[in-house]
Amino acid sequence: MQSFDFRYLSQEDILDLNIPYIDVINAVEDVMSKFAKGLCQLPVKIHVNTREATYINAMPAYIGGEREATGMKWVAGYPENRAKGMPVTWGLMVMNDSDTGAVKAVMDARWITAIRTAAVAAVTAKYCKVKNTENITIIGAGEQGRWNARLMKLVIPELKRIYIGDLYEAATKAYLAKMQPLMPDVEFVPIYTDDERQKAIDASQILITATQRSDKPIIFSEMLHKGMLGIPLESTAWEGKTYTRYADRFVCDDWNLVQTYLKDGKYTDGLNDEYELLGDIINGDAVGRASEEEFVITSSHGIALSDVAVGQMILKKAEAAGVGTMLPLMKEIDIIR
Ligand SMILES: NC(=O)c1ccc[n+]([C@@H]2O[C@H](COP(=O)([O-])OP(=O)(O)OC[C@H]3O[C@@H](n4cnc5c(N)ncnc54)[C@H](O)[C@@H]3O)[C@@H](O)[C@H]2O)c1
Repeated sequence: MQSFDFRYLSQEDILDLNIPYIDVINAVEDVMSKFAKGLCQLPVKIHVNTREATYINAMPAYIGGEREATGMKWVAGYPENRAKGMPVTWGLMVMNDSDTGAVKAVMDARWITAIRTAAVAAVTAKYCKVKNTENITIIGAGEQGRWNARLMKLVIPELKRIYIGDLYEAATKAYLAKMQPLMPDVEFVPIYTDDERQKAIDASQILITATQRSDKPIIFSEMLHKGMLGIPLESTAWEGKTYTRYADRFVCDDWNLVQTYLKDGKYTDGLNDEYELLGDIINGDAVGRASEEEFVITSSHGIALSDVAVGQMILKKAEAAGVGTMLPLMKEIDIIR
């Protein structure tokens, strides 16, 4: 009797594949390019909210062209989990066969979410940064603060210094203890006061915020200077007019998704009509910055295409290496009893 099986990959299975981070960056860059060429399907993500300030998102996508891929991420974000010793962002990814719809794999989605978010920021930096980007400021010393440092260095070889700040001094100290040994060729400088934060921003060519979502902005136009790239991972951390009045250029991964956040009031001063799509910039159909003086701001709210692209890469590597556990889904076609 025929058996329909799928591959199950735990987080540790994925970690054991030792996927080079640059491969993830390249996969994300490739899928953004395909998206801009109209080769993909990307319905707007939907969600349930079981508790205040939480979400569980359903995120399907299809990638066409060469190396087709289909899948869906079911991912939860529960900020209170940290205090419970549990992951804040976690879930599952399902990969399907594009010809038959068969489930090919079910895998952990935490690693994928963490790395693909930083990879989108890294690809944005690659195309939108000023030429000489020696200093970056990161506000938020959590999961994304760490991943962004890791991946930024891969696309910005000239990067010398990362200023790191957090609401909690203990978080900054834990960050330094983890990241400095991992990245000895970068100098990590802690930010503990408002004055130190301003000096860090003044010295930086990129400012990344990776804080928890809040209605109160922490970045204001007066803190910024021209010739910077701003990368908010949570649009509400930046004052509304940083997008509408201070920025010279707005870059996003998906304009449709940005519109849903706009309708939700996540840009308190609205948005200008002009925008550049990251994929168009990659394809050479738009520019990431027109001069060294521009202030470029980016909004990437996270699209399933990057998850599916990374999921497909993991699946191919796992198949080749025989990693994971094959689980039976079904045998019988006729199931009426
Ligand atoms: N766009 C995307 O695709 C995407 C994907 C994943 C996460 N995110 C967003 O990125 C952000 C960071 O995620 P994470 O997983 O790193 O979270 P995290 O909880 O691991 O880290 C957040 C850190 O920010 C600090 N923080 C909170 N408020 C602050 C403030 N006002 N000033 C300074 N520091 C502050 C916290 O103390 C914490 O250390 C979240 O807002 C999350 O929703 C976006």
